Amino acid sequence: MMGIAWSLLGSPALRLIDSETAHSISMRVMRGFGETSAGQNMLNALYRPPEVPIEVFGKMFHHPLGLAAGFDKGAEALMAWSAMGFSWTEYGGVTRYPQDGNPKPRMFRANRHKALVNKMGFNNPGASEIRKRLISRKSEDKWPKTPVAANIGRSKKVPNEHAADDYASTLDILWDHADMFVLNISSPNTPGLRDLQGQEYLSSILRSCNKVREMKGASKPILLKLSPDNSDDEILETVSLCLSSGVDGIVATNTTIKRPAPLSTQSRKAFSSDGGLSGRPLNSRSLEVINLVYGETQGKIPIVGVGGIESKETAWEAIISGSSLIQLYSALVFNGPTVVSSIVKGIKSRVITRLSRLLIVFGISISIFGLMMVTVDPQVQYSVDEVMSEPERFERENIFVRGIVLPGSMDYDELVFTLQGSTEELIVDFKESPIPDGFDEGRTIAVRGMLKSEHSSDGTLIWIIESFEIQTGCPSKYEA
Ligand SMILES: Cc1cc2nc3c(=O)[nH]c(=O)nc-3n(C[C@H](O)[C@H](O)[C@H](O)COP(=O)(O)O)c2cc1C
Repeated sequence: MMGIAWSLLGSPALRLIDSETAHSISMRVMRGFGETSAGQNMLNALYRPPEVPIEVFGKMFHHPLGLAAGFDKGAEALMAWSAMGFSWTEYGGVTRYPQDGNPKPRMFRANRHKALVNKMGFNNPGASEIRKRLISRKSEDKWPKTPVAANIGRSKKVPNEHAADDYASTLDILWDHADMFVLNISSPNTPGLRDLQGQEYLSSILRSCNKVREMKGASKPILLKLSPDNSDDEILETVSLCLSSGVDGIVATNTTIKRPAPLSTQSRKAFSSDGGLSGRPLNSRSLEVINLVYGETQGKIPIVGVGGIESKETAWEAIISGSSLIQLYSALVFNGPTVVSSIVKGIKSRVITRLSRLLIVFGISISIFGLMMVTVDPQVQYSVDEVMSEPERFERENIFVRGIVLPGSMDYDELVFTLQGSTEELIVDFKESPIPDGFDEGRTIAVRGMLKSEHSSDGTLIWIIESFEIQTGCPSKYEA
């Protein structure tokens, strides 16, 4: 049943079914069968990915990959997405007032490009109705154990001058019904919405939303979702406003209004429609934006990478470009649910797997890795296993390592910790110096440096990072 529903979305034989109908059929199956315990067991058995735990915003995620906004606008299948293997789900976009969205047809496939074009226009039942549904979901014990985000858009009938109140009201209504919130000012399908990225509108939206948060007295993260179509300078301005206004994270990116050259009649038709393009052709600009944002934020706030992630390679690139979490939408349509576990398996293979007593020694100070990823410049990535199996090959290379400090035990000059979900140990030795301040559990740290390998007398591989710079001290533990 599940397989049939998904083949409706992806199968070339069923291209004649329009994309929105295929999506509705899949949603029906997910909110019906996928929300029952039998359905969840089946999804789990078929698609369950491995664990690659990561802590972001003070929450543990089973791995970095979540379902992007727009697929489950009405939060109707939250248990099913979690059972399918997504480590978190973003429902919405939700607006303060109910909306039908734009007239149909409003969703088009371009199979040769693995791309979608949509001009849905925030069709959703409105914040109050969604809140009601979420309350009854909780009372039926149908709230997933994985983190849930709410995507908030501006109501079509509300002019930009009143956008700040509109976003704040929706945030207020949904406050108890999500773990984090994404302010969407970047959809191309609501007239004037992207103008809200201007400094004046945006600061007033952020001020109103911060007020709601203060009133609630709880510290839930608020993120901002960016458009890939803004110039680099505009993006940098927005990001610096985010940093000074208490935004907790950036989602990069939404869909684009740009189009590649069409490769078929079907894609010509899709690309000639107004709206936002997602999927493979969006990937390169999305990566550029992630890199740009990371350069500006230097890890001070986490980035959620989204746009054309469809494989372990594209997922990995988004991660090493600076994303702490990632999301996808289009790849679920074209590749089906197996895409989740195949991406997560790919990420895991590049993260420490069979690591026995890797000793990392730093000449002067710092760094600790829990979830560890290694990149060797320029732009080529290797797994830790690869580097360890041939350390000489990487001698004097400039490496980039990024990771999270997971709970462990600390000595005066040595820190031992165990990777979450595994029994492997990492030891970081500070050569008889005290462990410097800042090495808190839950922190994400990245280091760039020259690698020099050695073996100790008992055969343990030692990496000596001779020179390095801290790229980020990302406060992944969320603080008010
Ligand atoms: C049909 C459709 C509806 C979408 N609706 C929303 C939305 O309501 N809010 C939002 O922030 N993004 C929305 N998106 C954008 C996605 O969340 C995501 O940013 C974009 O599709 C790029 O990811 P992908 O290439 O993996 O699809 C939508 C995308 C599609 C295809």
